Amino acid sequence: MRWALGKKLFYDSRLSIDSSISCASCHKPHLAFSDDVSSTSGVFDRPGTRNAPTLTNVVYQPYFTREGGLSSLEMQVLVPIQEHNEFGFNIIEITKRLKSDSVYQRMSNKAYQSPLDYSALVRAIATFERSLISGNSAYDKFQYQNDQSSLTGFEVAGMELFYSDKTNCSQCHGGFNFTNYAFENNGLYAEYTDTGRERLTKNEADNGRFKVPTLRNIEVTGPYMHDGSLTSLDKVVEHYNQGGFGHPNKSSLIKPLGLSVIEKQQLVAFLNTLTDHDFINNKTFRN
Ligand code: HEC
Ligand code: HEC
Repeated sequence: MRWALGKKLFYDSRLSIDSSISCASCHKPHLAFSDDVSSTSGVFDRPGTRNAPTLTNVVYQPYFTREGGLSSLEMQVLVPIQEHNEFGFNIIEITKRLKSDSVYQRMSNKAYQSPLDYSALVRAIATFERSLISGNSAYDKFQYQNDQSSLTGFEVAGMELFYSDKTNCSQCHGGFNFTNYAFENNGLYAEYTDTGRERLTKNEADNGRFKVPTLRNIEVTGPYMHDGSLTSLDKVVEHYNQGGFGHPNKSSLIKPLGLSVIEKQQLVAFLNTLTDHDFINNKTFRN
């Protein structure tokens, strides 16, 4: 019941001030709960500033948003609700608005033995988000289910490159979720308009550092990087191949890689094996 309540809220546009958008407007299920524009507008078409990230396996994240300013999914729910350029609303007004909805009140009473108040609302949405687990891509079948036929030789070559010292990709994008959750500067810019983790810490050493994102379902979560400035995986791989722009905080792992045309294609082919079709087509997550 908690999950069902959270799911209903996730798709409910009455959470935004003018009832125009829901969480799912920016976190679209068929795109692994991300968006395909560099930054999504919120209510009254107020422009957003960052690319909406995937919610794939968000339960495993130790902190949220790209600078890692929030430590729980419950707290994170408040951000889009109050953010001027997202829902532009506030949670007290939402619970007032939903008071007369008997379905919600019945569900909340069952789930939390209370009317749909602030605490029930954020906990229910977080419960739904925690269920968005993906681990059945072609790569998973190969790696964890011993299905050697699920990757082609070309894709395996890309996987070997990904895990090699030649590219260093897995040094940051390692582990089950393809991230070490660190904050890194990957040389996207010489000067950052969005200063990343520095916004939170006010420390120059954090300028241009962003949370290393998961690469699960990366095929469908473009455009890429915090601002959606790279529009294809070919461009992402080319960015790393060039070694990025010079920046005092750029990680020493980011340097020119000297990849051949074929190697670049192999890397992209591997990244595409991380798509979990069961997850993105899962009807139980849909409205
Ligand atoms: C207008 C578009 C928009 C709407 C609506 C929206 N989000 Fe987001 N969401 C974003 C963007 C952009 C970010 C990245 C913010 C950042 O990094 O500072 C984000 C980040 C997140 C994150 C953090 C993910 C991570 O990897 O750290 C979660 C969780 C999330 N949103 C859940 C929700 C929920 C739940 C709702 C509805 C209550 C919602 N979002 C509504 C655009 C949106
Ligand atoms: C030093 C750590 C580091 C290394 C090494 C690294 N990355 Fe990243 N990667 C990051 C960070 C940090 C971001 C997010 C940057 C941003 O949001 O602007 C990122 C973003 C990405 C994205 C976009 C994800 C999204 O959702 O927008 C892809 C794809 C990617 N990296 C693939 C790779 C590949 C392939 C390699 C190896 C060639 C690699 N990375 C090496 C840290 C790293």
